[in-house]
Amino acid sequence: MKVVVDEDRCRGHAVCCSLFPELFTLTDDGYASAVEPEVAAEHEEDVRNAVAQCPERAISVS
Ligand code: F3S
Repeated sequence: MKVVVDEDRCRGHAVCCSLFPELFTLTDDGYASAVEPEVAAEHEEDVRNAVAQCPERAISVS
């Protein structure tokens, strides 16, 4: 599984970073970025939760 934060959709709400700081970080610009685009198997459920929690639907997986 890979995770991507859409820079155009992210508004810096930081829900993802607050819930899963090991998976998402805020850039200097105040937007989220995935710490590792390739998601380890044990983190897949957390990433799916982050996808569901982002109010801008900016996080997607493939
Ligand atoms: Fe951005 Fe959504 Fe996280 S708006 S900071 S990807 S909760």
